[in-house]
Amino acid sequence: MNDLVFLNGNVLPRSRALVSIDDRGFLFGDAVYEVIRSLPGRFIQPERHLNRLARSLREISIPAPDLDLLAIATDLLGRNGLDQREALIYLQVSRGAAQRQHAFPPDSVQPTVLMTVAALEPRREQARRGVAAITGPDLRWSRCDIKSVNLLANVLAAQHASEAGAFEAILIRDERVTEATRSNVFAVIDGTLRTHPTGPFILPGVTREVVMELCGKAALRVREEAITRNELARAEELFVTGTTADVMPVVTLDGRPVGSGRPGPVTRRLSALLASEMGLDGVGAGSRHFDGDATAGLDSVQ
Ligand code: PDD
Repeated sequence: MNDLVFLNGNVLPRSRALVSIDDRGFLFGDAVYEVIRSLPGRFIQPERHLNRLARSLREISIPAPDLDLLAIATDLLGRNGLDQREALIYLQVSRGAAQRQHAFPPDSVQPTVLMTVAALEPRREQARRGVAAITGPDLRWSRCDIKSVNLLANVLAAQHASEAGAFEAILIRDERVTEATRSNVFAVIDGTLRTHPTGPFILPGVTREVVMELCGKAALRVREEAITRNELARAEELFVTGTTADVMPVVTLDGRPVGSGRPGPVTRRLSALLASEMGLDGVGAGSRHFDGDATAGLDSVQ
C-alpha cells in the first residue's frame, strides 16, 4: 500500500505522480536528494540529513523549498501505513522543468520537489555474518560531497558488485579508497581505524559522522587519512557505513578474506554502539511504539 507520494505540494498516487519530460533532473541530472530513515515515532538524525540537503542545494544554487519536510514525511508515512515500522524517506529536489539549455533557467522556474516512502527490511543477518565487497575504479566527478542524483558511476560499480555477488563496490581513486557506491568505508590498519577525510571526493555520510563521534566517546582512535590500495589489501577489519547499511562488516574483499574472515572486534563494537545510539536494538521485535497517538509520537522527533 506504499503508493502515495508527495510531488510539488500534492499528495497523490504514485501512478499519477508525473514529472515533465523537460525536468532538468531528468535531462541533466540537475537535482539533489536525501535518504532519511524512520522508526516508529521518529526519524534518525533528521537535522543532519536536512542540513546536508540544504548544503547540497546551496552548492548548486537551487533555492531551498519553503516546506516543512519532516511534517510532510510524517504525514506520508502515516498515509502509507509505514508509521509503525522501519521505513526510508526518499527526497529529491530538481531545478525544475524548463526548455532545454545547459545554463540555469529563469528564476521563475520552480524546483520539482518529490518525496516517496518505502518499507525498510533490516539487514540484521547480513550485519551479523558480514558481507562481500569488491574494489573498482572511482569514475565519479570531483564534487562527491554534493548528494547529486548523478549516480551513473555509482550505478555501474554497484552493478559490478551485484554481478559478483557482493554487497558493495569499494571505489579507488589515485590508489586510495574514497568510499563505496552508497556508503562510506572504514578499515582497521595496523590497529588504527582509518577513513577518508571529508572534502570533494566523498559524501560526508551522516552515519560516518555519528560513527566518528562514537569512536570519540569510546576512546577509539580514528584517523581521517585515506587508505591506500595496498593497505586495504592487508586490512585487519573493514566495514561500510550508511543510512541503510548501518555499520556493515565486510568479510571478503575481491574474493579474499579480510582479517580472520569474520566481523572483527572493532567493527562489532561500533555496530553495537551505533545500534544503541540510534535506538535500533529491539526494533524488529516490535518493542518500540508511539507514545500516545501517531502524530504525537512524530511531533517529538529530536
Ligand atoms: N546513500 N556515500 C555515498 C556515495 C552515499 O550515496 C551514501 C548514502 C553514503 C552514506 O551516507 P549516509 O550515512 O548519510 O546515509 C556514503 C544513500 C543511502 C542512497 O543513495 O540510497
